[in-house]
Amino acid sequence: KQTLNIAVIAGDGIGIEVMPFGVRCLKAAASVYGFSLEFTEFDFASCEYYLKNGKMMPNDWKEKLSQFDAIYFGAVGMPNLVPDHVSLWGSLLKFRREFDQYINLRPCRLMPGVPCPLANKKPGDIDFWVVRENTEGEYSSVGGKMFEDTEREIVVQETIMTRVGVDRVLKYALELASSRPKKHLTSATKSNGISITMPYWDDRLQKLQGGYEDLKIDKFHIDILTAWLVLRPEQFDVIVGSNLFGDILSDLGPACAGTIGIAPSANLNPDGKFPSLFEPVHGSAPDIVGKGIANPVGMIWAGQMMLEHFGFKEAAAAMLKAIENVLARQEAHVLTPDMGGKGGSTESLGSAIEKEILALGRV
Ligand code: NAD
Ligand code: IPM
Ligand code: MN
Repeated sequence: KQTLNIAVIAGDGIGIEVMPFGVRCLKAAASVYGFSLEFTEFDFASCEYYLKNGKMMPNDWKEKLSQFDAIYFGAVGMPNLVPDHVSLWGSLLKFRREFDQYINLRPCRLMPGVPCPLANKKPGDIDFWVVRENTEGEYSSVGGKMFEDTEREIVVQETIMTRVGVDRVLKYALELASSRPKKHLTSATKSNGISITMPYWDDRLQKLQGGYEDLKIDKFHIDILTAWLVLRPEQFDVIVGSNLFGDILSDLGPACAGTIGIAPSANLNPDGKFPSLFEPVHGSAPDIVGKGIANPVGMIWAGQMMLEHFGFKEAAAAMLKAIENVLARQEAHVLTPDMGGKGGSTESLGSAIEKEILALGRV
């Protein structure tokens, strides 16, 4: 396919600030590699829309968005005005569940030039993928409240694991690990304390790993896994985890590699029945909104993952190269403050990457 139709949802906060640079970099890549991208912007799935309309999205959101090949998404959340569970369950989590985006793929990589908070690490030492289950697990709508506003108040929220849901994410992770040179899969579990769902997860992996004899497969309880991630990130290649564990690991990983501002994420419906969604890992960052200092790399890299997903391999490789080249130059007036920049901004960094994509030309 030579034209991709992309729905653009900037959302809230710094989502609105970084989105234009994502779009500009994608357009630059498309112009160099000779394919076309059609962008259509939507104002819904934002708290602004909620405050005007009393809901996060119009009733026909699913029909509207189903027309597109992909959704390019910024961030949602204005926690001072709209409770987070209302804004997120009314938007992003709906997309993931109703478009059956059951894989959330999140690379964690120490990029050249980015200051690392862990001692003596160089690029290559931190380079792993988190494969996060994205439609069930701890993020379930099964539960409720009883005896509200009494001393006996009870709240319950169940964890749901289905065989289909667990198997498909484990299979995806097994395949991904097989395709990597290190051939190493780590499963995040907590089957010592969570005694029904987590042992089930372990059992399914045990059943599915036959046929992958060339893989090194290990599992860690999530508590010690977070410790190893900080102490020995080199030891990880592909990490697969439930919805909540994957969420936590995919902020911890990028933080170990310098900043969550560069981390991207692909919410995939691998069957292609529904659009997949590409977004930065970070949120709307209310603490820095309006300052012009949001790191645009997570947004741009998410666009890179979108091109990769649709098979524009060369353009995707060039986008990643452009990000690396600009970061590696370590120009303080270009880099945003989260990466040690001084005087750099969303604008300076985003434009530098756009320029680099054009300058690289066909590689
Ligand atoms: P956050 O990711 O928005 O911010 C955490 C910290 O990281 C903040 O100090 C922020 O300034 C910094 N940060 C994040 N992105 C950055 C960037 N690109 N450049 C520089 N610094 C960056 O997480 P939070 O504070 O937990 O959540 C804020 C809001 O965003 C909440 O409403 C939350 O629910 C929402 N949220 C949305 C998404 C999403 O839409 N995918 C993801 C996470 C959080
Ligand atoms: C993420 C975010 C979301 C999640 C929130 C905003 C619901 O933290 O994409 O990592 O927990 O999945
Ligand atoms: Mn998260």
